[in-house]
Amino acid sequence: MDAQGLHVSTTPREGEPIVRADRPDPCTVVLFGATGDLAQRKLFPALFELARAGLLPDHFALVAFSRSAHDDTAFRAQVKEGLKKFARTQPLDEATWERFASRLECISGDYDDPAAFTRLRQQLESAEKRFGTQGNQLYYLATPASTFPTLLHRLSEAGLLPREEQPGQRPWRRLVIEKPFGRDLESARELNRNLSSVLDERQIFRIDHYLGKETVQNILVFRFANLIFEPLWNRNYIDHVEITATETLGMEGGRGRFYDETGVIRDMVQNHLMQVLALCAMEPPSSFGAEDIRDEKNKVFRSLRSVDGSEVATHVVAGQFKGYREEQGVAKDSRTPTYVAMKMNVDNWRWQGVPFYLRAGKKLAKRLTEVSIHFKPVPISLFSTSEACQRLQPNVLRLRIQPQEGIALSFESKVPGEDVSIAGVTMDFAYKEAFAKPVPEAYERLLLDCMRGNATLFARKDSVEQAWAYVTPILQALESGVGGHIHEYEPGSAGPDAAAALLARDGRRWTVLK
Ligand code: BG6
Repeated sequence: MDAQGLHVSTTPREGEPIVRADRPDPCTVVLFGATGDLAQRKLFPALFELARAGLLPDHFALVAFSRSAHDDTAFRAQVKEGLKKFARTQPLDEATWERFASRLECISGDYDDPAAFTRLRQQLESAEKRFGTQGNQLYYLATPASTFPTLLHRLSEAGLLPREEQPGQRPWRRLVIEKPFGRDLESARELNRNLSSVLDERQIFRIDHYLGKETVQNILVFRFANLIFEPLWNRNYIDHVEITATETLGMEGGRGRFYDETGVIRDMVQNHLMQVLALCAMEPPSSFGAEDIRDEKNKVFRSLRSVDGSEVATHVVAGQFKGYREEQGVAKDSRTPTYVAMKMNVDNWRWQGVPFYLRAGKKLAKRLTEVSIHFKPVPISLFSTSEACQRLQPNVLRLRIQPQEGIALSFESKVPGEDVSIAGVTMDFAYKEAFAKPVPEAYERLLLDCMRGNATLFARKDSVEQAWAYVTPILQALESGVGGHIHEYEPGSAGPDAAAALLARDGRRWTVLK
């Protein structure tokens, strides 16, 4: 029951799920950047949770490649410490840990040292014999983007990444690449060329962890497993769409240096938010297969109206929180935006005239990731005699990605009484209440999918380039100054005032961050 006294009931399906979870093939996962923050916070916990849930193959090994020297015992102890802090299920299940640790080995070496890759090959051959992993290998590059070309070259030179000649070839070799995938269109193309010179596209998994979030995957289920929303999902009924990803955190965890070279557009917009936009805006795919879904998302990117030069100042507001330049690793004269608000247009039949407003930023008033679909107002109010009826609010559908994962629809209702008085109420679905099980972490699903060879939730070469083609002129305009200046904002606020003005010019307002 929600605050407005309404609730939605769910009818969990009985029996088998529609899509059965396939156990991956026997394999070895090779993790580069194994002592880094991402590995400690997300990757080891995700693999551990898969082990706990019995979703890893029985024949499995994990080889951690790191530049800092470790022996297996010390490395395992370090991973265990991390799991005690970051594993999803606490306290740590000791029996799972014992099994997991027995498959975990490490190897140290420099990324550019051919001898280290010869040692890696030997270790993989040995692991294959000991653990029966059948030669299937998944290489995960959780390292800075600048290391990708070197790692790719060394892996290929050592014969570890042969090109897949036919779909379904065994043993398989796959490569997972973390974001940011390049810095702009040119560098993304260069990286893609580099990858394509070694691997078939089927072997490449460009990870965007937003696509692994249950709530993001649910956008497609919500749209295409229900009949009633689709007829409304277009310019005839929708006024505008708002996509928000605001965070309260700033540069904690020593991220200043990385972030200062990246900024919010490369960090959040080019990947996470544009992927979410594509899922909301795409046409129904001809099947739920990876290529059909990715084709439709790519069409959305190709329909984006480009914004460049001085137009950037009227479509984009960039901001930086006060005190950012004092953060460790950040340049004293940094112009890197930590906030962005932008107006995007999808020039196609379905969305003509429906703006998509995106905003993302650090050190804001609230942590909220949400898509809100704002419907058009009723054409005429029948209740115009009553004062409250002057304030009829159009319906808003909120897809809450996080926190408080769920979906809410607001609508108008008669307030009980003799006169006609109207108030806004909400129908609210919360995952926590509807399903008696915790929502898995995005990386769990994504790692499992890489091992299964399912690329549906990964970005394809063409769409990564399309997304860069859209944001690169914006980045150039902001970096050169023709795209307007970087507005300062107070930490803990809703962002710069100019962001509110961006919507006010169109007679609209952002959802309040409270
Ligand atoms: C990462 C960004 O990709 O996503 C971070 O690099 C950001 O800056 C994070 O904080 C947000 O992820 P989530 O899952 O917390 O929304």
